[in-house]
Amino acid sequence: MNLPDLKKAKIRSLNQVEYKVQDYAFTRMFEGKKYFLRTYGCQMNEHDSEEMKGILEYYGMTPCEDLESADVILLNTCAIRENAHDKVFGYLGRIKHLKKEKPNVIVGIGGCMSQEESIVEEIRKRHPYVNFVFGTHNIHELGRLLIEASGDAHQDIEVYSKEGEVYEGVMYKRDSHITAWVNIIYGCDKFCTYCIVPYTRGKERSRKMKEIVKEVMDLKEQGYQEVTLLGQNVNAYGRDFKDGTEFSDLLEEVAKTGIPRVRFVTSHPWNFTDKMIDIIAKYENIMPYIHLPLQSGSSRILRLMGRRYTKEEYLSLFEKMKERIPNVSITTDIIVGFPGETESDFEETLDVVEKCKFDGAYTFIFSPREGTPAAKMKDETPLEEKEKRLQRLNERINLYSKESNEKLLNKVVPVLILGISEKDESKVYGYTDTMKLVNVEAPVDTIGEIISVKITDAKSFSLDGEQVKE
Ligand code: SAH
Ligand code: SF4
Ligand code: F3S
Repeated sequence: MNLPDLKKAKIRSLNQVEYKVQDYAFTRMFEGKKYFLRTYGCQMNEHDSEEMKGILEYYGMTPCEDLESADVILLNTCAIRENAHDKVFGYLGRIKHLKKEKPNVIVGIGGCMSQEESIVEEIRKRHPYVNFVFGTHNIHELGRLLIEASGDAHQDIEVYSKEGEVYEGVMYKRDSHITAWVNIIYGCDKFCTYCIVPYTRGKERSRKMKEIVKEVMDLKEQGYQEVTLLGQNVNAYGRDFKDGTEFSDLLEEVAKTGIPRVRFVTSHPWNFTDKMIDIIAKYENIMPYIHLPLQSGSSRILRLMGRRYTKEEYLSLFEKMKERIPNVSITTDIIVGFPGETESDFEETLDVVEKCKFDGAYTFIFSPREGTPAAKMKDETPLEEKEKRLQRLNERINLYSKESNEKLLNKVVPVLILGISEKDESKVYGYTDTMKLVNVEAPVDTIGEIISVKITDAKSFSLDGEQVKE
């Protein structure tokens, strides 16, 4: 038993990060069994789930799509907002019923929610049928936890509130054979006052550049067309090495591997250097797409959020990107209803949206997270008002995202085809270099290829097009 502790999770010491090689104990105990894995949250969690699948399949298990036929059920959870929490506990209700009928089913909970003290308390008190809980720092222990759970009826909690290590040799079962996630930096040290991530993911620690480049080379050799470099804040890459390495150096090395498409998420507007802009502009295979979270357009609220930039600094960075990176598309994240946000603060946000005309945005109502400074700030705006602000914001966002899509009408753009379209089975779908979703009239054998597509229709959230042969 090892319980999470938010205070411990906050500590950032000067201790050297430990670099370790993953070692998975092998067993055939689970041969022929089925697992059901559900993932919540961000790309990091998606990628962590690929590690979990790697372990489960190494043990001989196969995935299944429905809860009822599973021998092992795993939930990889997210803690970013209250609704993420509600979704998981809602789902646990179903699992509880199932467990009554099939008591031998093993249930495990991992991910960011597991790193929270209050959640683990709730699981201990109200959900004793959950076999084990593990955190973001010990995914590699999943195998051991499974073996123990199959022989012992006691609930096991193994969550570590530490700064974290960097593991190499991780065994992934990737969801796609066309695009791949590649971790470059773990954790976050920004401590934006509303955010739980620095507590659930540990301190900022970078993978060694040569390991990352090697992983990308391997992926390229396996035929992958695209990699997305992952970090809560990719700009911070390499700074922990204290030898002058920065993200732009890594980006350049990754571009030089010649893999057709390179992407990265997420970049914080703070510390987005000119050199990074230059490198993005210089290499054809670095996609002209930047996700640049704004959070708020009011400098006063940005200060309360601990975001380290003002409205003006954001706008000038935005302009610089638009000027120097040809054809760049920029999306953002915005929080409305941060404690103390007034109508005039909110109008500052609308003003930035008006000026930037983002290609797209994820918008959220502020959700207080236990243990973060913003959760203790006085918040007098009624939820009803916050909902109205969100709606007003979304109307503008959708308008501009449609406008930016309409600019592509009748143009021919490169699209990496990923699979059969969900909307229309006679079509395929993929993404433009600028990260716009397109449903395309093209044969199935274009899946995995970058093809030229003429855009025939533009909606708020997607485009339609047809393949053109050049
Ligand atoms: N590291 C990224 C963000 C990761 S979380 C960055 O700094 O840009 C993704 C988004 O969730 C954030 O950009 C923010 O808009 C939103 N978010 C985070 N904490 C939140 C909270 N407590 N309430 C509402 N939205 C939140
Ligand atoms: Fe959260 Fe801020 Fe870190 Fe992003 S940069 S993960 S919002 S603390
Ligand atoms: Fe959620 Fe954890 Fe990602 S809190 S957004 S899964 S880092």
